[in-house]
Amino acid sequence: MKTEYYLLSECEDNVFERAGQIIREGGLVAFPTETVYGLGGDAYDPTAAERIFAAKGRPSDNPLIVHVARPSDAESFAVTNDTYYKLAEHFMPGPLTVILEKKDNIPKSVTGGLDTVAVRCPSNVYARRLIEAAGVPIAAPSANISGKPSPTNGRHVYEDMEGKIAMILDGGDCAIGVESTVIRLEEDGCTILRPGEVIARELARVVGNVYVAEAVTDPAAAGENPQSPGMKYRHYAPKAKLVLVDGTDEEFAGFINEYSGRCAVLSYSENLGDYKNALVLDAGSRESAHEQMKKLFSVLRSCDEIDCEIIFAHLPPKTDDFLALYNRIIRAAGSEVIYLAK
Ligand code: TXA
Ligand code: MG
Repeated sequence: MKTEYYLLSECEDNVFERAGQIIREGGLVAFPTETVYGLGGDAYDPTAAERIFAAKGRPSDNPLIVHVARPSDAESFAVTNDTYYKLAEHFMPGPLTVILEKKDNIPKSVTGGLDTVAVRCPSNVYARRLIEAAGVPIAAPSANISGKPSPTNGRHVYEDMEGKIAMILDGGDCAIGVESTVIRLEEDGCTILRPGEVIARELARVVGNVYVAEAVTDPAAAGENPQSPGMKYRHYAPKAKLVLVDGTDEEFAGFINEYSGRCAVLSYSENLGDYKNALVLDAGSRESAHEQMKKLFSVLRSCDEIDCEIIFAHLPPKTDDFLALYNRIIRAAGSEVIYLAK
């Protein structure tokens, strides 16, 4: 298949009309969101869902998120409630995904066989224009080949999807860089199934109690009790082995400098000069979860372009602000951590 590729900063409205038509006809369009790029198809069309799974090489029991232009558009296919609208008022459009009971018009192939559906209203202007132009809700996972880091720019999408889908819309770098926060509603609050830019203390102000699913910090738990099925798969992994290291900056640098093999380091921006024989990649400022999140997937992808046999990175703190980063990087590392602190 020939993939049409458009740089959105240079495009006319008719590109969105054409993209919307592709979606309505059952085809796939990759598009930017504020989190990561999505691989979109008509959420009402089971064939589109099958095409999405095929293009990603993704197990079809891993459900897709359904994207809407306005929070109230979820009424057409999901059972909403007051808590959903309270959350929508604070966090939509934006990087929050809410699990709701599904109606019959959403095929089970979209929800991985579940009776629930994930709803998200993105804030990215191009994503919103695409959903409006399609006139149907858009089912979209991240637009990467399953297992690879999620795409945060058009080039990443092109690398993974060229020749497999009808169209790629390139809207530049994603502002956030990790996927949306996914939550399930509870009687007295909500449970975070996947952490993201919207963090627990912000959710708590709106819904009361916020719980965190065990699988968020312990990927092994996801295999046993998959509340959010996506969490059980190994994810985001570069080709070389990624190992996390827990210790002070001095301990970390000492460890790297004693390592004798060809290694790469995901270094904090503040410490780029601390390493002797390693290939050093800038992972962002130690203080800024936002900066590190924005760079993470892109840096993991660039590890595939350098000659190294192992990659070392800092183990992020498990705090609220860094939880999304912690969650993504332990998956990328297959939970392999070296503890240096005595
Ligand atoms: O930021 C994002 O959420 C991006 C952009 C494109 O919107 N999308 C994304 O989709 O990350 P995907 O398919 O890569 O991840 C969807 C996550 C998975 O962890 C999946 O298990 C969970 O949402 N999920 C989807 N439907 C669910 C459901 N009904 N119940 C529980 N978890 C669900
Ligand atoms: Mg994904």
